[in-house]
Amino acid sequence: MHAAVVTDFGSPDVFEPTELPDPAPAPGQVAIDVTHAAVGLIDVYLRQGLYQDQTGLPQPPYVPGLEVAGTVRALGDGVAGLRVGEPVVTLSGNGAEGGYASVALADAALTTSLDGTGVDPALAVAAVPNAATAYLALTEVAHLKPGEHVLVHGALGGLASAFPGVARALGAAGVTGTVRRSSLERARASALPYDEVVPADDLAEAVGDRRFDVVVDPVGGRVRTASLGVMAPMGRMLLVGNASGDWQHTVPTNALWGGNLALLGYAVGFHLPHHPELAGPAASAALEAVRKGLVQIDVQTVPLSQAAQAHRLLENGSVAGRIVLTP
Ligand SMILES: NC(=O)c1ccc[n+]([C@@H]2O[C@H](COP(=O)([O-])OP(=O)(O)OC[C@H]3O[C@@H](n4cnc5c(N)ncnc54)[C@H](OP(=O)(O)O)[C@@H]3O)[C@@H](O)[C@H]2O)c1
Repeated sequence: MHAAVVTDFGSPDVFEPTELPDPAPAPGQVAIDVTHAAVGLIDVYLRQGLYQDQTGLPQPPYVPGLEVAGTVRALGDGVAGLRVGEPVVTLSGNGAEGGYASVALADAALTTSLDGTGVDPALAVAAVPNAATAYLALTEVAHLKPGEHVLVHGALGGLASAFPGVARALGAAGVTGTVRRSSLERARASALPYDEVVPADDLAEAVGDRRFDVVVDPVGGRVRTASLGVMAPMGRMLLVGNASGDWQHTVPTNALWGGNLALLGYAVGFHLPHHPELAGPAASAALEAVRKGLVQIDVQTVPLSQAAQAHRLLENGSVAGRIVLTP
């Protein structure tokens, strides 16, 4: 198979196109002929070596890529409910790297059929895994209730884009997005189902006296602390990423006590593999939201041989929507 291998921790230059033996599925896994592999900021962090001391995370040389779409090539022992040739997409949290390749392995429990859905595989891999993550974060962690108001930071980002559609499907009364000023124009032209998108730079002024029951924060840094001032009593903030790159930022915890607020972390990769029973409902909700056009994220396809360039684009913040590699 063709693969884009990370040969060392470091800059995007560490990518090397490599021919590797086709992998065979272990029991409970499927092998997938990959047509599209998603690229996310987490791939960038792993390649940079940000988590190099954390056990269980990949060490070079490795093939990155957590989410793929394609067709089932082979079934491991004990796999039922999927057939060879079936179009599929995998959910985040597969636990496995290996997506930046022409053949990838995935846990069957976290592999969802696209048969008969009419969902394009490029959109599927760009939107379904993140929409499933959004569903899990909003239902299992933030316990979003119908009629509540949601605020989503970094509103056009890969993960963030999945939240407004899923929140609406769960009955949210309104969804507001925030972006940096440089993205405001693009946000206002976006097909994502936000009621409004406001500048993140001065959050308090931008939202006035509106208050939010659930805040979704994949950005971190200053906007995280600013969010405490615009949350409704009993509000919950989902900490789901740190796109700001501000790893030193801390939040004043006495503000939680005084404001009746909660901060809740969620990382799908450390949750879903331990709760595969949640994958089916999350995948169904995600696919339904995508099929209804609620997660219309822009998808930019780049050949697998240009994986390094895809990472450069993501690192310098010039991706509108999501990048998908095609082997
Ligand atoms: N918790 C989970 O299970 C999970 C799953 C997937 C991803 N993540 C995490 O979520 C975060 C976002 O990942 P992604 O793949 O969605 O990334 P992405 O597509 O690059 O989106 C990041 C967004 O953050 C915004 N942003 C604000 N300040 C920024 C800054 N200083 N530098 C760069 N971007 C900034 C950007 O929006 P504007 O420029 O428009 O403001 C951008 O659209 C990452 O930390 C990733 O690890 C978590």
